[in-house]
Amino acid sequence: MDLEVVVLAAGEGKRMNSCKPKTLHEIAKKPMLLHVLETLMRLNPQRIHLVLGHKQDIVEEALKSFPQDICDKINICTQKEQLGTGHALMQAVPFLQADSKVLVVYGDIPLIALQDLNNLVQNCKDLCILTAKYDDPTGYGRILRDENNNIKAIVEQKDCTSAQLLIKEINTGIICTTSAIAKQYLSLLKNNNAQKEYYLTDLAALLAADHKQVSSCEAVDYKYTLGVNNKAQLQQLERIYQQDCANELLAQGVTLADAKRIDIRGKLHCGSDVFIDINCVFEGQVTLGNNVHIGPGCIIKDTIIADNSVISAYSIIEQSTLNKNNTIGPFARLRPGNNFADNVHVGNFVECKKASLGQGTKAGHLSYLGDATIGSEVNIGAGTITCNYDGANKHQTIIGNDVFVGSDSQIVAPCEIKNKVTIGAGTTMTSHIAHQEGDLIVTRAKARVIEKYKRPTKHKK
Ligand code: UD1
Ligand code: MG
Repeated sequence: MDLEVVVLAAGEGKRMNSCKPKTLHEIAKKPMLLHVLETLMRLNPQRIHLVLGHKQDIVEEALKSFPQDICDKINICTQKEQLGTGHALMQAVPFLQADSKVLVVYGDIPLIALQDLNNLVQNCKDLCILTAKYDDPTGYGRILRDENNNIKAIVEQKDCTSAQLLIKEINTGIICTTSAIAKQYLSLLKNNNAQKEYYLTDLAALLAADHKQVSSCEAVDYKYTLGVNNKAQLQQLERIYQQDCANELLAQGVTLADAKRIDIRGKLHCGSDVFIDINCVFEGQVTLGNNVHIGPGCIIKDTIIADNSVISAYSIIEQSTLNKNNTIGPFARLRPGNNFADNVHVGNFVECKKASLGQGTKAGHLSYLGDATIGSEVNIGAGTITCNYDGANKHQTIIGNDVFVGSDSQIVAPCEIKNKVTIGAGTTMTSHIAHQEGDLIVTRAKARVIEKYKRPTKHKK
């Protein structure tokens, strides 16, 4: 039987206190809805019916930036009025195949475990419900069982008797059924309940009464079934997600100074014997080679750092490639487009952008290197600036091998400096300065000495 999925995501999410639709709020910098869709894709469903309603236009706009293979599977169903979860599923019914399994998930349960979904699909004959045992079941629908432990019904919190409120087995909301059951039974739902809604959960009692098979699977871990209704729950799930990422890294042999103080917002690939100090954030795709050492407070995005490199405290690195034995920071800022060869040193308060630095080149302090191609074994003195912008366009700086740039020099681009040139401290280097390999270039005003100079004194009042 083909598998189809329905994602319920039409609700308003009032308690988020936000203008943004609930399912677009992010865990690890990725919308909750995308987390759910990515997990669903691993089930290889025939189609994903996405039920939208509240702020549908904003969600549809966001979908445009989701991966194409996911978008290709999505069929949007509109629920004009949010009349309950049963009513939401009804919106997808006209699109369902005649004979398929139908997995129903929520857009606001972002960490749902693939294994739980697989279990549901495999165990479903007519209806299979993903249940969990919560110490505090407040707010959730309770599972009612008969003397043979078969499910009789699901009762919503607001419709529970005081005895039913004590039941700790809850409905996670995620179910699997068949298109035939959905087509036959959903239209029988009534809204004569505390919330005047068409409850999807009433399907359990309807089917049980009709001697259909109503089964359940217990979640592998309740924490992955938690939903998000407010910002407190969003941050709770963020921490669950981050703890899992940290645990995975620890299991791979990465040393973390504190597993609670690292955030992965994407994927971090590590070689052996990597050390990561506290409060680091990794975004997008980051690869760290063997023996890489990351100091505290670093933010690293879409970057490759090769073996034995040391990134010292509070460095920010984006879309760059750093080869072996680099030493970066503390307080270095590498903006997108850098490519450093082996043994490069970029020290404190150095900003680089689209800079290619050759082997053994050093820029120790307080520099800006942008749109620059710099050879090997070059020394960039403190305070060196590549003046890459003329107010209208960006220009390139090219520096040969074994060049020494004295401190506080400006290189006005476009400009090329030949191999083995020495630039004296305080020089303003321009393309007009013709020179040969090995020359010394100094542009400096002649010194004046005024002997026995008297400083101005304060006027008396
Ligand atoms: C639902 C279940 C409850 C379960 C709980 C788990 C019902 C009647 N109750 O309650 O048993 O314990 O989830 O979290 O099913 N939605 C729509 N359209 C609607 C209403 C809801 O698309 O008209 C979507 C929401 O966007 C959300 C999901 O369905 O993604 C659940 O809706 P919500 O209102 O949060 O249901 P609960 O009251 O939490
Ligand atoms: Mg809810």
